[in-house]
Amino acid sequence: MPALCVRALRKTYDNRVQALKGVSLNVAPGDFFALLGPNGAGKSTLIGIVSSLVNLSEGSVSIFGTDLATQREAAMRLIGLVPQELNFNMFEKPIDILVNYAGFYGVPRAVALQRAEEELKRAQLWEKANMMSRTLSGGMKRRLMIARAMMTRPRLLILDEPTAGVDIEIRRGMWKTLREINAAGTTIILTTHYLEEAENLCRNLAIIDQGRIVQQGPMKTLLAMLDVEGFLFDIDGVLPAALPQIEGTTVVATDDHTLDLEMPRAMDLNRVFAALGEAGIRVRSMRTKSNRLEELFVRMINQPEAAQTETAA
Ligand SMILES: Nc1ncnc2c1ncn2[C@@H]1O[C@H](COP(=O)(O)OP(=O)(O)OP(=O)(O)O)[C@@H](O)[C@H]1O
Ligand SMILES: [Mg+2]
Repeated sequence: MPALCVRALRKTYDNRVQALKGVSLNVAPGDFFALLGPNGAGKSTLIGIVSSLVNLSEGSVSIFGTDLATQREAAMRLIGLVPQELNFNMFEKPIDILVNYAGFYGVPRAVALQRAEEELKRAQLWEKANMMSRTLSGGMKRRLMIARAMMTRPRLLILDEPTAGVDIEIRRGMWKTLREINAAGTTIILTTHYLEEAENLCRNLAIIDQGRIVQQGPMKTLLAMLDVEGFLFDIDGVLPAALPQIEGTTVVATDDHTLDLEMPRAMDLNRVFAALGEAGIRVRSMRTKSNRLEELFVRMINQPEAAQTETAA
């Protein structure tokens, strides 16, 4: 039974914006699942519907087999949500925020106090437990949001851009926490704009664009679909006017000492170096042109099939 099953989901807001145009999605229990997509794609709308904050227009959602339409409360109890915007009371203390939240979901106070200590320690916020939340740093506030969501021991944790605006060190710390939570059995779905985050954490992903899923599957399979790799070569001295032709590749000079090269993933880089050497070009350094997932993303949302389904609707 999937942790999350979404069928033919549509959402039209009052202002007639069609945020979701028929989304179907399965997330397996125990999965770490990424929902990727550009601004305005419909990610928060989807998450809002799944966590009962937004009413759906058409379609169905079930969480561990519990139907959202007919068993809303039971479904909500299975979910922990970390929304995109900070939404706790800045004038409350972290400990109270956590304990009150758990209380709202019927967790007895003694249990809640103990859990709050565990969660604040895991979030490295235990020393801040009794400070006004307003005084926490941005990264601490984000971690507090995760700690709060975990207070009900959800089976499905949903995070909407949990690491937005958080520096890389704190982001890594949050990744560690999320991996631990997932390893302990909680299914996780997250949306992110940091594509390396999805690549680092997630086993499966869906790419959503303009209210439709344009691609979904295992991260590995999707990455393997990328058959072209791009490199930037930093050249010693100045490039010759006539660049070498290397079969199977595209070579472009981005300035007089940088070469931009695209080649099939399977191709041997030695061939490239040999050809460059023959042309008297000495490579000083090289780097991969872009994050692979980023490339995948750009390809998927520009693919003709996506455009066709778009116009067919
Ligand atoms: N409450 C609302 N009322 C009307 N339109 C809305 C509302 N919320 C979202 N939208 C619209 O629905 C579309 C999808 O928005 P959504 O917030 O789901 O995107 P997103 O993928 O989460 O984007 P981002 O990455 O910027 O957070 C957008 O066109 C947005 O303007
Ligand atoms: Mg959003």
